[in-house]
Formats: sequence, C-alpha cells, structure tokens
Amino acid sequence: MTRSTGNIDSAHSQLGRSGARLSLPEASAVAERLYHVRALAFDLPSERDQNVLLESESGERFVLKLANPAERREVLEAECAVMLHLEPTGLTPRLIRTVEGSAIGMHGPQFVRLISVLPGTTLGTARFHTNALRQDLGRAVGRLGRELTSFDHPAFHRDFHWDLANAERVIGTYLPLVADTALAQRIAAFAAYHRAHVVPMLPDFRRGVIHGDANDYNVLIDEARQSVTGILDFGDMVYSHIVNDVAIAMAYVALSAADPLAAAAAVVAGHHETRPLTEPELQALFSLMCMRLCMSACVAAKQTAERPGDDYLRISQGPLARTLPMLAAIHPRFAHYTFRDACGLPPVPHAPRVMAWLAEQSARFAPLIGRDLRTTPVAPIDLSAGSALVSSEPSENTPAELDLRIQRRLAERGATVGAGGYDEARLIYAWPNEPTGTEPRTIHIGLDLSLAPGSPLHAPLDGVVHGFENAAAHHDYGPVIVLRHRTEGPDSVEFYSQYGHLSCDSLEGLRVGQPIAKGAVFARVGSAPSNGDWWTHVHVQLVTDLLDVACNVDGVVRASQRRVWKSLCPDPNLILGIRMEELPHQVPKSAIAAARHAHVGGNVRVSYGANPLNIVRGYKQYLYDDAAHRFIDAYNNVAHVGHCHPRVVRAVGDQLAVLNTNTRYLQEQLTEYAEQLTALLPASLSVCYFTASGSEANELALRLARARTGARDVIVMDSAYHGHTTTLIDISPYKHAGPGGEGAPDWVHRSPLPDVYRARGAHADPGSWFASRVGEVIADLAAKRRRLSGYIAETCPSVGGQIMLPKGFLADVYARVRAAGGICIADEVQTGFGRLGTHFWAFEAHDVTPDIVVLGKPIANGYPMGAVITTRAIAESFDNGMEFFSTFGGSTAACVAGRMTLQVTLDEELQRNALLVGERLLSGLKPLMGEFEIVGDVRGSGLFLGVELVRDRHTLEPAPDGATFVVDRMRQRGVLAGTDGPYHNVIKIRGPMPLSLADADQVVDTLARALRELPGRR
Ligand SMILES: Cc1ncc(COP(=O)(O)O)c(C=O)c1O
Repeated sequence: MTRSTGNIDSAHSQLGRSGARLSLPEASAVAERLYHVRALAFDLPSERDQNVLLESESGERFVLKLANPAERREVLEAECAVMLHLEPTGLTPRLIRTVEGSAIGMHGPQFVRLISVLPGTTLGTARFHTNALRQDLGRAVGRLGRELTSFDHPAFHRDFHWDLANAERVIGTYLPLVADTALAQRIAAFAAYHRAHVVPMLPDFRRGVIHGDANDYNVLIDEARQSVTGILDFGDMVYSHIVNDVAIAMAYVALSAADPLAAAAAVVAGHHETRPLTEPELQALFSLMCMRLCMSACVAAKQTAERPGDDYLRISQGPLARTLPMLAAIHPRFAHYTFRDACGLPPVPHAPRVMAWLAEQSARFAPLIGRDLRTTPVAPIDLSAGSALVSSEPSENTPAELDLRIQRRLAERGATVGAGGYDEARLIYAWPNEPTGTEPRTIHIGLDLSLAPGSPLHAPLDGVVHGFENAAAHHDYGPVIVLRHRTEGPDSVEFYSQYGHLSCDSLEGLRVGQPIAKGAVFARVGSAPSNGDWWTHVHVQLVTDLLDVACNVDGVVRASQRRVWKSLCPDPNLILGIRMEELPHQVPKSAIAAARHAHVGGNVRVSYGANPLNIVRGYKQYLYDDAAHRFIDAYNNVAHVGHCHPRVVRAVGDQLAVLNTNTRYLQEQLTEYAEQLTALLPASLSVCYFTASGSEANELALRLARARTGARDVIVMDSAYHGHTTTLIDISPYKHAGPGGEGAPDWVHRSPLPDVYRARGAHADPGSWFASRVGEVIADLAAKRRRLSGYIAETCPSVGGQIMLPKGFLADVYARVRAAGGICIADEVQTGFGRLGTHFWAFEAHDVTPDIVVLGKPIANGYPMGAVITTRAIAESFDNGMEFFSTFGGSTAACVAGRMTLQVTLDEELQRNALLVGERLLSGLKPLMGEFEIVGDVRGSGLFLGVELVRDRHTLEPAPDGATFVVDRMRQRGVLAGTDGPYHNVIKIRGPMPLSLADADQVVDTLARALRELPGRR
C-alpha cells in the first residue's frame, strides 16, 4: 500500500511505475496458485508496486504486492526479512509465505508477496488528530525503532535518495528548481541553519536500520480511539541516523496541525517514552523535521519541472507552503526546549543551574527598590483573569483607573509597594493584531512591582547593559533595559534581567556593554503614557536565553507553552526576595479538582470529564478560564441578560450594602417587582410567591394545586425534570426512571413526551394525538377512582431534548385536565423571559393560560431566586392558616436582582435579539441536516435550540457518543454547549440572551467543524 493518493510525496518514487499491470482476475488467480487464497481482487492506489486488495470468502483481507520490474530481489528479500523481524510488534503487516514456504513468490519473471491487512484508516485521511494520537505515533515509531536495533541487512546499506542524511545534497540539487522565490529563500535558510548547527553533530549520532518513511499515509490509526494501529511500507528502509525516523513522523504530523510545534512535540513525547532520545538528537530534531519538509518541496519542484501540467503536484504542496513559514517563525532553540519539555526534561538545559545559583545567592543581592523587600510591607496585586482589580470592560482598565484601584489596595494593606503577576493568566492583553483562531497570549511571565512614578531602581547584582530601547508602541514596554549577568563558580553561565515600563530618562546616556554595579541606580519607574501606556509599575523579568533578541523579550506568552517559558524566564522573585505570602496566590486546577474530590459529592458532576474547565470570570455571553481563554457560552440560560451584567451587579451590590432581609417586613422592592412581573402575565395570574430556587418553586406549585383541589395525584410528561427535591424527583421521570432512580410513586402518572421528531410523522395531528394520550391517563385515573390535583409540564421540555410541543397539544390537554378538576401548572423555569424570541412566555405560543406559572433560572440573572405566580382563588385556598415562609425567597436583594434583570431584558430588547440570533443559528444549523447523515433534527425557537444526532436516519438510533464528541470539540474551539435528551444525543444551544450574530456564526462554524471531524462519519 505504498503511497496512496493524497500524500505530498506521492510522486516521489525514484523508480516510477513501469511494466504491465495484472488484471484483477489475473491477480486473484495468482493468489490462489501461490498462496491457496481464494479471494476477490480490488485495485489499490499505489505508485511503485502494483497493489491489489484481496478479500477471501471467509472475510480475511490481504494485499497482493506485485513488485515493480525494476526492483532488485535483494531489496525485496530485505523488506521480507524486516517484516518477519517486526511481526511481534503487532504494528506491521504479517508476511504470508507461498504454499512452498517462500517469502517471495514468482509470477513469470515478476516478484510477488502477500501481506495481511492491518485494521485502521490512514493518518492522512483522518479528520481529526489529537496530541494523544500524535504521542501514540511517537510511541509506535519508537517501538519499531527499538525492534530494529537488532536487525540489519546489506541491502539497506545504500545511498538512498530519500535518506534524510542526504538532505543537504537533495536540497542543493533541486533548490534551483523551486519557482516560488520566497519558498526557495526559506528553504535555503533552513538548509543553512542545518549545515551550521546540525551537520557537525551528525557523525556522533546513533545509526541503524530505520523505517525511513513514517509519513501520514503509511501510518494506520483507530480514529475513534485516537491511537496508532500500524505502520506500513518498508520501501524506504535504509541504514541511517536512527533519529530520522521520529523526525520524519514529526514532519508529516506538523503539516496537518494548527500548531505544528505542539504537534511535533507530542510525537517526541511518545517516542521518548519507548525509545529515549539523546540530548544532541533532541537538539537536532527540529532542523531535521524541517529538512524533511524542505526535501519534499525540492523533489516536488523537480517533478513539476518534469510534469509541468500536473495539478496534483501543485495542490499537494499546499500544506508545505502553509507550514514552512510557521516553522520558520519558531526559534530552533525554542523548539529544542519544547521537545525537552515533552520528554519531561527541564526545557532550557542551563535554567536549573541559573535558578539554583540565584537561590543560593539570594541573601547577597541588592534590593531593587533600595529598600529590602524582605522587610518592606508589600501588597499582593492580583491582576489575573479572575481578579476583581480588573474590570471585564476593557475601557475601564485605563492606566489611571488601574493605578487608582492599586493605590486603594496598597492603602488597605498599609503598603507602598505592590507586587505580583509572575506566571499569571491575564485578560488585559487583547492584542489587536493577533491573528484570530490562534491561541492568545495571556500568561504574564515577569513580576510587576507597583511603585511611585520616578522611583529609582538599583541593580540587584553586577551586570552589563546588554540592550535597551524605547518600545514605544501602544501597550509595549515603553523604555526597557536588559542587563546581562553571569553565575559565579565552575560551569559559569550567562543570564539576563529585563526591566520594562521605565521612565524615558532611564535610557539617557546608557550604552551597550556599560557595566552596572550591584546596588547602582540604573533606571526609574515610568508612568503613562510614555511607559507603553500602562499603570505605574516596573516589569521585572529574568531570562535564561534571549533567543537572539537584544532586548524586549516577550513578557506575555501562550498558556500552552507555559512550562517552556517558565524555564526561559524563571521567577524574578529569585532576585527580589518578596515574602511568598505577600504575592498573589493562584490555586492550581489540579488542587481544586483534588479538594473537590475530597469534599464535594461525586454526583455533583463537572462537565468535560477528565479535562474540566476552571472558569474564573464571566462577562456578557462569554466565560473565561484560568488561562484567560475566552469561551462563548452557548449553554447557560441562567445568565439571562449576560454574565455579570453591570446594571444587575451594581443594583444588587448597592442593595446588599444597605439591606437584605426577608418577607416579614413590608418592602417596596418586593411589591414593585411583583407588580412588574404580574403586569407581564395574563391578568388572572396576579399573586406571587418568591422562593430561592426553581425546585422550591415547583414544590410550592404542587402544594398550591393540592390545597386548591384537595387531591394528590399529578400527571407528568415522560423525560420531564422539575427539580431535585424528594417530591420533585418523584414527578421527574428524567430522574426517577434514570440511573439511581426508584421509579414513580403511585400518585404520579406519566404521559408520553410529545416528541414529534421521534413520532416520525405517524400521526396526522400530533398535537391532538399526544393530548389524547394524556386523556387516556385521566380516564385511567377515573377508572381507578383516583382524583387529579394537577398536570405539570415544561412548556418546552428541555432535558427531554429541547422539544417544541406540537400545535394544539397544550390547549387540548389543559381542557381535559380542567374537565377532570385538575390544576394546570406551566414550568417556565427554562423558557421564560423572552427566550423563544417569539413570545415572552412559552405558554403564550400555545394560546393557553396556566393556573400556576413557575419561574426560576434566568429570573434574577444568577442571584438565587424562583417564583410561583397564580390566581387569587388558588392563593386563597392555600392561605389556610399555615404560614408560608421561605427564608431567602423574596429577600430584598433577590427582588432587586429580579427587577433589574427584567428591566435590562426589556431595555436591551433581548427578546428581539433572541429571535434574530435564533434565526441566524437555525439558518446555519438546518443545512447541516443535508450535509451530515448524523444530524437527524434541528429544532427550537430563539435561543432555545436542539440538534439531535442519530446513528441511523430510519431507526433514529441515538448517537450520544457523537453528541459528546461534538460538544467536547466545540469546547476545544472556544464554544460551550451541552448534551441532553433521554438518550443524551441532543446538542443543546441555550446561551445568554445577548449572544450576537457573530457568536451565532461561530457556534455554527464550530459545530460543523466538529461534525466534520467525527470519526467514522458518513
Ligand atoms: C424545567 C425545570 N424546572 C425546575 C428546575 C429546578 O430548578 P433549580 O435547579 O433552581 O432548583 C430545573 C432545573 O434545571 C428545570 O430545568
């Protein structure tokens, strides 16, 4: 199965294809004669040999390989020998001997071999590569390599064109044929680096027989498990530097990756596990992988010169043209450090030495600010994504406002110095020129000292001026100085300290190479706007390798490269000496998870399984995690008017500062809110009760119905959820009929979920058909002489799978229930307050007026609150002498939260927004049903939508794994959605009401991309 189509090197064979090809019946006959295998034959794409797929009657599959006539027998024998040698790994095809016991059979003068077919699809055709898969590839290549150490064959000691050891020669020969001058220059630069830095090391590298071509079409994978199942093709085997095998695998993996370095590092990690790499090999790997890609580009140029009209060649070079500039932007030493990190080594080899020396010397350093920070009171200044010192509104983080907040914090602590920020994930860096889709830089890798402007800075240790500049661009460093230092003693090594946001006069008279004695004043703290337009502080950064920049080393880096950067830029407190307790403290995610495991019930579930999110901030329709990465919240309908809406926050905060008490006092906040709420409901619904949750509200609704009717029995919908209390579990089939459930008690009667999609058009009028089913339950109750207290249903069943009730259903049911003496309860906990876009309350869409409406979740934008609103008559029946009191229900602050949430909903016309954005979502999601077999249904209204995934469009077999996969992938790309429905196969889109049209487009795009990546998709 050599070089199937799609491989960028698919035309690279030296041999080319020649000789007559066998017909498929002839191939079958050959297989039967030589191997006694009776099988049907199918053509396989191949470049050098003729490969035929054979499928025997018993279902066994083989590949019959008819060698290219130009192939030497010795080489084929060597390939057979290596296959036999590698068979125990289980990673390579099994060689089948002829009936006479030969590894190679003859068909006339032609050499024939038969090999088994390994399971899996090629890495090159997989839609989705995780780093776990890439790591497994590294492991597999390492395992093969380990086996190959005990193998040799004279045929592989050859001067082979594709041997990476020949990269310089191949590139030198064909580079002049590369027509794209930018590409040619880039290749020349890679080759020059290789010649200068890697070629001199090569004579000492380990050598052996290598596979030589672990390209993505020679690697088989189990896409669903994201693991490697096999490695094919022994046609490029050669005696070479053994590191080349992993370099080649890395090169092809990098080609298809959004982050080529991270992808390559994953291969290194896996390889190092099974076959440890040496330090010189790790140093050379990046250049070697780049050289492999450069070789491909050069050989393709040669072939283009030979076959100028071959479009395929041009197209297949696209990934190279995309990836080489990305690789060229990476400093090779940064790549080396990244690969060391992947192997579990300290990324910068000399960093531990620098850190140990600094730790040892700490008592001898001069204080940077002229006062000993070990004894000066320092206030921790936390500017992380979750800190209240930072506003979610970027315009509120001006230098003046930050200065003011920091000054206030210093005053509270009785300190004149503030400190913090090393390894801190910050939101405040939204670089406008950062390309979208790339990981934003959020991790601050220096330490900030907040000091008065003009404060003198003293060199903590002897050094010389290495570089300085005024990095004057907005939000750059402003005046910045880098000092160079050296550790003392044997193995002395250079390192640097960088100081940014200085005063302009700090640079006056400075010259590169100027010695700066320990304790000497060398700079002063700057202020806005000349300090880069930041708050007043000095940014202090230690650097173990400047990566060839004179000064202005990045002070903010990507979270995914955090460990490498922490080695490049160790904690500046090593030269400052601030007491640990005076620095902000971030609790690592792992510690939170451990504490949660220890102290929180196991079934209080966390989303995203083994890789949960630590969310530290919410603003508008966005959530931010502890790496300051932003997510579109397409899931949470509680933050109705947007997370932390400033008007709600202010109103509640102000109220909490004045009074927050209970309903035992007259409070205008309560009555005003009750008036506003009831004004939006039908006139009959005029009496409110406030609770602290939706569950409490539903409990109360049941009590009201019972008080009014004197009956106990209720009818519920299958798959319904009404809350977590004992009684509500009884009326929630979603819970009592699910795992851990004990079924329904005798007073609860279930009616079918009116799921029109799953009814598959069986009923001409589904509304009346499903209502009749409720009628049957009522009739059954009557027959059993049981009395009905009420019917409770969500107006749009949510955990039921984002169901839209069929037309006419609710009116029909309400009529039947009322005729039987029951009360009609609408659970609007999910859908109230304009979510459907078309109506403010979902029941309005069904032309009914419930007797009791239950509200919750979005009602107070996250402040605990629920409400029950009913008729005067029902309220009077309930007022039977027993007091109703809910400690927190209707508290002053809760009423203020509810009132402001309502006001913002109306002021910002969020119902209209839900309609517009919902239509945009539906217009993007509905076409997915045409594109993807698995998308069975797209339904909903406004910002209450569901995408149902099914394995089979006819049987409607649910696809819960697919839904989980899609939701997980969406999270990876910054969109939070959920799964629900009785079969957990419905993707739920139900975010805050201010979701924008652009967010909607991103949600659709992300969902579609995830569907495209689904393993085994049709
Ligand atoms: C329809 C419905 N009713 C009631 C509740 C219970 O609300 P709470 O969690 O506030 O008690 C929920 C919660 O998910 C719900 O979805």
